[in-house]
Amino acid sequence: MKNILVTGSTGSLGRAVVTALKAKGYGIRAAARAPGKLPPGGGVEPVLFAYEDQATHAAALQGVEGVFLMAPPLDPEAPAKLKPVIDLAKSRGVRHIVLTSAMGVDAVEQAPLRIVERQLMASGVPYTILRPNFFMENFSTGFLAPMLKQRGIFLAAADGKTSFISVVDIAEAASVVFQKGLVSKEYNLTGPEALDHAQVAATISEVSGKTVTYQAIPEDAMLSGLRGTGMPEGSVQYVRVLYSAVRAGYTAAVTNDIEALTGRKPMSFDAFARQSAAVWA
Ligand SMILES: NC(=O)c1ccc[n+]([C@@H]2O[C@H](COP(=O)([O-])OP(=O)(O)OC[C@H]3O[C@@H](n4cnc5c(N)ncnc54)[C@H](OP(=O)(O)O)[C@@H]3O)[C@@H](O)[C@H]2O)c1
Repeated sequence: MKNILVTGSTGSLGRAVVTALKAKGYGIRAAARAPGKLPPGGGVEPVLFAYEDQATHAAALQGVEGVFLMAPPLDPEAPAKLKPVIDLAKSRGVRHIVLTSAMGVDAVEQAPLRIVERQLMASGVPYTILRPNFFMENFSTGFLAPMLKQRGIFLAAADGKTSFISVVDIAEAASVVFQKGLVSKEYNLTGPEALDHAQVAATISEVSGKTVTYQAIPEDAMLSGLRGTGMPEGSVQYVRVLYSAVRAGYTAAVTNDIEALTGRKPMSFDAFARQSAAVWA
């Protein structure tokens, strides 16, 4: 396999996947809704791709044998958006789709990402499913970064623990999966330890030299805060489910899948925070 389409290539995980696949010598089509913002060259070809615009799908899939597939984040419409891409990939003879799902969705058949998993498994395209836990990068560049600017983490997570994982480790695992052709497999990807959000805040405070506090807020307060940012109601409800899973302890499990795939231990939150300290300073 030579060429891979990377969906979500402008996001936290997608950028890391492009870097990891480039390092293994793959040619990359970097799918983006605004490809003009991506620097071309170095084996990376930006291509226009939007799930809602099926006219962009065929051109994006041109000449690729593999697809790194991800859903738009927090999108309850993910099954309807991804199915046409999976079907087109099948008809184009794509040889491997690696899907980013999320840890725990295999316990909830009606979860949008579980439905996408089922669609992919039934598609006839050789597949691999990666189920990562919450990303460490949510605190540095992702959807929680604006909160950190206010020196706070305000979530309805109670004291639930999460085995946060770095996108660098997920991306390395994805590149190994493509390289070794590990198809018909499912991996649950976590970091090396489960932490609660007070521990996360303490580590960020220590490495950045700026005090960040965690405030465990009621679910209603979290949801109205999200509505206040303009988040669509479907995504607000998606977040509600995610953090009820954290409170229930479902995100605390630690697996060995990163080390089994990559041969190295996943990054600790402490190491991630030290690398990212400048973002919070
Ligand atoms: N963050 C987590 O903790 C976590 C945990 C488990 C699983 N996941 C899954 O991992 C994936 C990536 O998450 P992330 O945190 O890296 O997200 P992110 O940084 O917000 O990136 C999302 C990417 O999806 C693209 N995108 C959004 N809507 C799109 C659409 N309608 N059509 C085409 N592209 C679209 C964005 O492109 P634009 O530049 O065009 O906006 C961006 O490149 C998601 O599927 C998420 O469900 C995330």
